[in-house]
Amino acid sequence: MRVTYRHANNKEYWTRRWGDIPADVPMQNKTVYPLKYAEQTVTANDGAILEAGCGAGRILRYYHESGYDITGIDFIDVAVEKLRAVDPTLKVETGDITQLRFADASFRYLLAFGLYHNLEHGLAEAVGETARVLQSGGRVCASFRADNIQTRLTDWLTERRARKSGKTMGKAFHKMNLTRREFAALFERAGFVVESVSPVENMPILYKFAFFRARTHKVFDENRARAEGYRLSGLGQLLQDALMRFLPDQFCNIYVLIAHKP
Ligand SMILES: C[S@@+](CC[C@H](N)C(=O)[O-])C[C@H]1O[C@@H](n2cnc3c(N)ncnc32)[C@H](O)[C@@H]1O
Repeated sequence: MRVTYRHANNKEYWTRRWGDIPADVPMQNKTVYPLKYAEQTVTANDGAILEAGCGAGRILRYYHESGYDITGIDFIDVAVEKLRAVDPTLKVETGDITQLRFADASFRYLLAFGLYHNLEHGLAEAVGETARVLQSGGRVCASFRADNIQTRLTDWLTERRARKSGKTMGKAFHKMNLTRREFAALFERAGFVVESVSPVENMPILYKFAFFRARTHKVFDENRARAEGYRLSGLGQLLQDALMRFLPDQFCNIYVLIAHKP
């Protein structure tokens, strides 16, 4: 386990991030993270879904508009308010994964993309809450920042850019990083049966350089990237595919786990 520190703490980071961008449109691309993995988990419209840490709502809105019974929670008020304003029919509320208000066994599915690595304390309790609100046989799909070369490089680049622009990085908690084995063990300890852990390049390291981005992504537009995925040019994709083919555990930036409650 490795901890990433930045100049603003995690809650300040998410408040600023969701304050800066509008609510997401429903995600469109089913071949990329996170919708690809949500679809592998929610294989039928046969029970209630909780999206914990729904953020700007791309997954929440996708399932809501597709006719599923989905509830979203996030601990950042501004994200919840933006979602309510864009679609008042959404079931979305402020909530914290370490202490959910829902009764035991309320949900058949729980989706949590990029959520648990935001917890400096209470990670085991959060996964315990996940198990509690799921029904027996219920499935969870969760992603976690990987502890590997890719995220060490990203942290180094971020620190270097900050230093160049005169900022100090400070020691505010930003994110946890886990190896594949540590991530699986976290869920096994809470009683889950882990079905798969996949190395995924949510945002490829090469996307950080405009040269390797797809033509329509040269000028960064976060909303476009969140709906379409972080698209690379032909050359960028070729290089990224090679890295992921030969060293997936070192060049993914997250792991995606699918597990069920026995
Ligand atoms: C990486 S974002 C992912 C957003 C969304 N799931 C997606 O994939 O587009 C992680 C989200 O977790 C939320 N979050 C962080 N800690 C949380 C907590 N303790 N309880 C609930 N939400 C939290 C953040 O506010 C943020 O919206």
